[in-house]
Amino acid sequence: MSDVMLRVTNVSVAFGGLRALDNASLFVEEGKIFSLIGPNGAGKTTLFNVISGSLSADSGQVEFMGRDITGLKPHEICRAGISRTFQLKNTFPNLSVFDNIMAGMLKDQTSREVRHKRVLEILDFLGISNIADSIVSSITPLESKFVELGRAMATSPKLILLDELIGGLLPSETEKICDIIEILRDRGLTILQVGHEIKPIMRTSDRIFVLDQGRNVADGSPEEVRCNKDVFSCYLE
Ligand SMILES: Nc1ncnc2c1ncn2[C@@H]1O[C@H](COP(=O)(O)OP(=O)(O)OP(=O)(O)O)[C@@H](O)[C@H]1O
Ligand SMILES: [Mg+2]
Repeated sequence: MSDVMLRVTNVSVAFGGLRALDNASLFVEEGKIFSLIGPNGAGKTTLFNVISGSLSADSGQVEFMGRDITGLKPHEICRAGISRTFQLKNTFPNLSVFDNIMAGMLKDQTSREVRHKRVLEILDFLGISNIADSIVSSITPLESKFVELGRAMATSPKLILLDELIGGLLPSETEKICDIIEILRDRGLTILQVGHEIKPIMRTSDRIFVLDQGRNVADGSPEEVRCNKDVFSCYLE
């Protein structure tokens, strides 16, 4: 039985009259890949925004490694050990791949030399050292995904939130992203990912949570979720 690293309890967020999250809860165990799925507008990105501190919930609690992190600022949550990728590309298009990953670091934590070395390690790990000096606007969609992941790795997090890192690629490219996510997990990193492409999500997940209209619909192993009729129907509505 693994330890619970992240626990989200009864989080609600309303945008005007729209309840984007309605008592949503989930947990993530240390050293595992957990996934959050659900139809468009289910509240997945909103939940990531609450966990990473860019959005305040109206109610509910977020605990990370036994500590209440509800309402902390994004840089405080990053320092606590959580980083994320963004659904919409969040890279600096006119900067190089190297500088984009460097920009993911918290400047006050280490010296410039240490940060430089860390970027080189990440580029090497992701297999993109050859494009270190390329301007991000000129690289391929798969390379852009690696840069997004590299930026999230830059702060040496304990937990990474991946918002649709899997998605929008050719099947062979998606396989490469899945391989990297599994290697990160096998090296001890904990992952919570959002994705719409069910096959790669099923392949990589240790457990899946399903949201619909801001509410929990189901959770369980990939097989349990695949066979759940409520999950099937929320995608058909
Ligand atoms: N800043 C905002 N202001 C108003 N409404 C918002 C805002 N952010 C999200 N919403 C709405 O909240 C709901 C949940 O959005 P969210 O982006 O979290 O869904 P999602 O599950 O990530 O969807 P997708 O799979 O399309 O990315 C949607 O109806 C969305 O339009
Ligand atoms: Mg989203």
